Amino acid sequence: MTLILAHRGYAAEYPENTMLAFKEAEKAGADGLELDVQMTRDGELVVIHDEKVDRTTDGTGLVKDYKLEDLRKLDARFKFQSLPKKEQIPTLAEVLEWLSGTGMVCNIELKNSIIPYEGMEEKVIKMVRDYDLSDRIIISSFNHYSIVQSYLLAPEIEIAPLLSEGLYMPWIYAQSIKAKGFHPHWRAAPDQIITASLESGIDVRPYTVNKEAELERLFKVNCTAVITDEPAKARRIRDKIKQ
Ligand code: G3P
Ligand code: MG
Repeated sequence: MTLILAHRGYAAEYPENTMLAFKEAEKAGADGLELDVQMTRDGELVVIHDEKVDRTTDGTGLVKDYKLEDLRKLDARFKFQSLPKKEQIPTLAEVLEWLSGTGMVCNIELKNSIIPYEGMEEKVIKMVRDYDLSDRIIISSFNHYSIVQSYLLAPEIEIAPLLSEGLYMPWIYAQSIKAKGFHPHWRAAPDQIITASLESGIDVRPYTVNKEAELERLFKVNCTAVITDEPAKARRIRDKIKQ
């Protein structure tokens, strides 16, 4: 069955990468989450997509210049101001603590292509091991050097390269870096690439799939997972196809 991974949580309806969005994704029937990790000035792992806090909070400036204590004072509700209370930028520890009490899987995307956060891989791996979640986590990144480093540090934790463009035979590339799967942009994942990858034992989890017709196509081709802002919609379509 194609798994539904909620992109930044239930990002279509709730503030992305917040505990609210993660909890609502679970309620909406997602099988797992995708989230983005950056690092604070005092070396804490936090869940936020951009290098800067400007777009998604009421603050300004780079995450790497904030101490965790100050970052936690920001309101991450951004365009969802009608929500009754402030949302904080979660720490990765907070999400994993909650996740360990659910049956969900989680794709941790290391956001270290623009800012090369020193020691990020070691910190993420330690945390995943501390919460005993190695078999439910996939570490991905556009920085492929970083995921290879993660694999070398922790071969028991799955890695997956993010591919924004189509590669020639991406399953061979994945195998070459010891990844069991890859995460392509949905436009770079036509049926024949998905089928050939699955036949070679390589998983495919396209992002960010929100269009009904695309979700339907990916469920029908038995893609490993879809990464979507709309877990409830994806669930409805998957349930309809299975009937
Ligand atoms: O991990 C899939 C997807 O999230 C990659 O792009 O920019 O949404 O983090 P982005
Ligand atoms: Mg992401």
